[in-house]
Amino acid sequence: MKFTMANLAGLTFFLVFFLALIFHTHGTNSSDRSSNQVALFIFGDSFLDAGNNNYINTTTLDQANFWPYGITYFNFPTGRFSDGRLVSDFIAEYANLPLIPPFMQPGNIQYNSGVNFASGGAGALVETFQGSVISLKTQARNFNKVVSELKNKLGNSEAEKLVSTAVYMFSIGTNDYLDPFLTSYFLNSSSHSQYVATVIGNFSSIIQKIYNGGARKFVFMNVPPLGCLPGTKMLQSERNGSFLEELSSLATLHNQALSIILLQLKKQLKGFKFSLYDFNADVIQMINHPLKYRLKEGKSACCGWGEFRGKYNCGGKRGDKRFELCDKPNEYLYWDSYHLTESAYKQIAFRMWGYTRSNSHTLGPYTIRDLFQAS
Ligand SMILES: *[C@@H]1O[C@H](CO)[C@@H](O)[C@H](O)[C@H]1NC(C)=O
Ligand SMILES: *[C@@H]1O[C@H](CO)[C@@H](O)[C@H](O)[C@H]1NC(C)=O
Ligand SMILES: *[C@@H]1O[C@H](CO)[C@@H](O)[C@H](O)[C@H]1NC(C)=O
Ligand SMILES: *[C@@H]1O[C@H](CO)[C@@H](O)[C@H](O)[C@H]1NC(C)=O
Ligand SMILES: *[C@@H]1O[C@H](CO)[C@@H](O)[C@H](O)[C@H]1NC(C)=O
Repeated sequence: MKFTMANLAGLTFFLVFFLALIFHTHGTNSSDRSSNQVALFIFGDSFLDAGNNNYINTTTLDQANFWPYGITYFNFPTGRFSDGRLVSDFIAEYANLPLIPPFMQPGNIQYNSGVNFASGGAGALVETFQGSVISLKTQARNFNKVVSELKNKLGNSEAEKLVSTAVYMFSIGTNDYLDPFLTSYFLNSSSHSQYVATVIGNFSSIIQKIYNGGARKFVFMNVPPLGCLPGTKMLQSERNGSFLEELSSLATLHNQALSIILLQLKKQLKGFKFSLYDFNADVIQMINHPLKYRLKEGKSACCGWGEFRGKYNCGGKRGDKRFELCDKPNEYLYWDSYHLTESAYKQIAFRMWGYTRSNSHTLGPYTIRDLFQAS
């Protein structure tokens, strides 16, 4: 047989096909995949809490383990503050991970895919809703316990590999600003930037603790437009002056300070990689152009009471039994007074992961997908 280019191309094709088949078969070996699996550890507040607050001594204000929470996807209330899955649930799915279990869940939790430490109501400051939530500082301490357990179970080198290749996802800050506004009426304006600096300072030191535990790949969602939540807008009529503007400007100040501190941490900490998602800008777009996002309602909540269904009564278990529930949660941006619907979280997760090419909302140099793929 004469060796022609066509033969060569055919042979090459055959070889590539054959090799691909071998690698494919190899790749589907399940024990092999689990050792290459990149874990997901989740920290923060009710945007990411998958049920930790079901197991702590708190009030129904910081819980979502009752009907109609969970009606769209799980068909039972898991403790997630939504009608279904959260951003972190979709991110886990895109990363081929199972649903990440809550740290507080009783029983023998396997940590190989990661674990969720987030607690509804939590803030970067220990004082935020203190006594009713698991603060970020305690969440970081729980992470250290998990690292020790992993070392005992897998040995130091396997545990260190799992921890250093894992992705660490955060949503924090919202409650640090809502707490003083909701409980002490308002924050002294002249001290806004001082307060933001304290919140960011505490957050930064907790990030460093988690980095010192071996974490390298970080994902952050910034703080949403706090003056545009049904729960805060409803309060406008009871409060005076520039209440909503103040809240939104605090969120903006916080988000600016967050980008700056992350760039500093990147310079200071060797191997520190991050992806910062502009949750704030994304939510504003969805409020202003719901139709573009296949939503019909961007301002009022699906579940709640009163103006904008902003009174935090969803489920009727928070003192006041009165509430309304919409027929089609998937047409709404907001599920309750403060939290989004599964249909909104699903779209946000899609953009965060990096599925859309023109992604104006990722501020970090990496998408989450990049971080899962990085070694
Ligand atoms: C999968 O991988 C493990 C460990 O590498 C190996 O012991 C096992 O035989 C493999 N199974 C298959 C079906 O290839
Ligand atoms: C839960 O908190 C309440 C009020 O703070 C307290 O009275 C009660 O003893 C606590 N229960 C447990 C089991 O810690
Ligand atoms: C507001 O804060 C400034 C600076 O922190 C302080 O000097 C002033 O007394 C405060 N005003 C009130 C009403 O608390
Ligand atoms: C953390 O917050 C506390 C108040 O909650 C404050 O006194 C402390 O200075 C903050 N730490 C940093 C590093 O900003
Ligand atoms: C708003 O109300 C608070 C509390 O009643 C009061 O101290 C403050 O002066 C008011 N501010 C304005 C701008 O009216």
